[in-house]
Amino acid sequence: MERIRKFLLERRQTGTLRTLAPLVRLGHGWVRPLDSGEKLLDFSSNDYLGLAEHPEVIGAARKYLEMFGAGAGAARLMSGDLEINHLLEQEIARFKSTEAALLFGSGYLANTGIIPALAGRGDLIVTDRLNHASIYDGCLLSGARTIRFRHNDLNHLEQILQEKRSQYNSCLLVVESIYSMDGDRCPLVELVKLKKRFGFFLMVDEAHATGIYGENGAGIIEEDGVSDGVDIAMGTFGKALGSYGAYAAASREMVDYLVNRARTFIYSTALPPAVIGASLASLYLVGSEVQHRLDLLAKVAFFKKQLRKNGLKDDFGPSQIIPVMIGDSAKALAAAAELRRRGIYLKAVRPPTVPEGTARLRFSITNHHREEDLKRCAAILAEELRRHKL
Ligand SMILES: Cc1ncc(COP(=O)(O)O)c(C=O)c1O
Repeated sequence: MERIRKFLLERRQTGTLRTLAPLVRLGHGWVRPLDSGEKLLDFSSNDYLGLAEHPEVIGAARKYLEMFGAGAGAARLMSGDLEINHLLEQEIARFKSTEAALLFGSGYLANTGIIPALAGRGDLIVTDRLNHASIYDGCLLSGARTIRFRHNDLNHLEQILQEKRSQYNSCLLVVESIYSMDGDRCPLVELVKLKKRFGFFLMVDEAHATGIYGENGAGIIEEDGVSDGVDIAMGTFGKALGSYGAYAAASREMVDYLVNRARTFIYSTALPPAVIGASLASLYLVGSEVQHRLDLLAKVAFFKKQLRKNGLKDDFGPSQIIPVMIGDSAKALAAAAELRRRGIYLKAVRPPTVPEGTARLRFSITNHHREEDLKRCAAILAEELRRHKL
């Protein structure tokens, strides 16, 4: 316990202690902390398209719950392989233009299952330095030699591949298409070219792109037209699709392999039917109603324009995730607390989630935000940053 107390004290002293704070969801993007009467506008949700509250998504979840029961009861390879899993997988494969798809319990489970299935002792994994913790954990679990390249730095990546690729039989490159904490994009077209030169499995985590980018909302792989060059497109249902769970979209052979080798798939209970119903409805909405993502992209552009109008200088990146860099963790926490006092709910993102010295306010724009809210939020943010000389 001494070691645990010391850890907690150190985290408290450095402003990096994580704590839970229960919220009441009031709907349409508004939340209320359980311990106060404040009504706050949520800027930290990944329910980008607002589909978690969409009546058709809720209706489908209710219908599947009533038709198929509350829980799957077992893993897919036992008796949990209800036909609705296959229905959703077919829809994912169609959505992502791949031969097949495989469901996972969550994005964390997908990454920690797929990566160790594709790379093991004696293999090489090359991973972007800013990849999500679930990708890191997948690399660790794999036992493969893992080398991180500087974020989005193609020269550094190429240098690593030149030096190391030939020493290993098999190599896996993992990137995110939209980075979760920085909101920037990976240079996917160039990565596919490197794949042709050096030969490696290319895995792309589309957690923050699925449902938003590309002609049909399938993500950056679709937008960049490189689906043939990507071996595994991983994505989640818990963000823009407003549901829960995750998928790997790939060739039939790759999916058959994962069914046999991805331990987080094999040894985990299948998704609950209500979740599958919600995911099916969301996929249908994304595919049939382009307005959801057009609205979101318009709101993102509007918010960035408001930030500039209020004197903020950054270019704020290409996506719905907008990081406002603060640097110091304690200052980022103080800034988030000030914003909260003024009706804006968002979390200061601090190390170890992001690298040392890059604590930030991460604004996540969703379809719940109205223009007047975005305008007010940008003005408040600029005022607080000026007041605190940040
Ligand atoms: C890039 C990325 N990959 C994977 C995950 C994990 O997904 P899930 O929340 O479904 O476990 C997240 C976020 O949670 C993420 O941001």
